[in-house]
Amino acid sequence: MPLHVLEHPLAAHIITHLRDKTTKPATFRTLAYQISLLLAIEATAEIETEPKDIDTPLERVSGRILAHESLVVVPILRAGLGMVQPFTDLFPDVSVGYVGLERDHETARPRSYYCKLPPLAGRHVVVVDPMLATGGSAVAALTVVKQAGAVDPVLVSIVSAPEGVAEVEKHHPGTVIHTAALDRELNARKYILPGLGDFGDRLYGT
Ligand code: PRP
Ligand code: URA
Repeated sequence: MPLHVLEHPLAAHIITHLRDKTTKPATFRTLAYQISLLLAIEATAEIETEPKDIDTPLERVSGRILAHESLVVVPILRAGLGMVQPFTDLFPDVSVGYVGLERDHETARPRSYYCKLPPLAGRHVVVVDPMLATGGSAVAALTVVKQAGAVDPVLVSIVSAPEGVAEVEKHHPGTVIHTAALDRELNARKYILPGLGDFGDRLYGT
């Protein structure tokens, strides 16, 4: 299965502090930025480049630069917003699309409330959402971006449950998933264990 779990001492350090219930929103946002930056690098390892010849102070050399407007990042609102800045910091002409989904507190099913996407055909599309729990939100977002023209969109989450990974594989087989932690299971309320609680609430202090 194309599941990539980030293995790096810094990733383990950041995840541990994100999980800690005493971590306050300001620190939580910084940690979310840092782990998302590591994941952004992993998730764009296959992004398109093109040749460019330049002159160093000493001689001419053939280099490579990012292909123009190849990358699109699509956060699932609201918590996915906490993962966007590393992409906009690193990639000069990234486009950002938005998919608004909210889990029903009783059923844990996602409800769609917003969608605004740039052109996706022929571009490297990365859907970002920090928590892959039941997988309902990720499956819905992947369906939406594919309907809008994305081919083989990549999914990036910070913490994933096995149930969510299996759900994505069931509905969108072959989807490449990058995550920083593969956790044990979901609890009866469909929260990830050990997890880190409600990511959006902790990010925005709600
Ligand atoms: C959280 C999280 C994911 C979703 C994951 O969002 O950010 O989008 O739950 O759960 P799932 O895999 O079971 O679908 P939530 O609905 O709490 O909304 P928020 O981002 O506005 O906090
Ligand atoms: N959404 C969250 O923010 N956390 C979970 O554990 C599950 C869904």
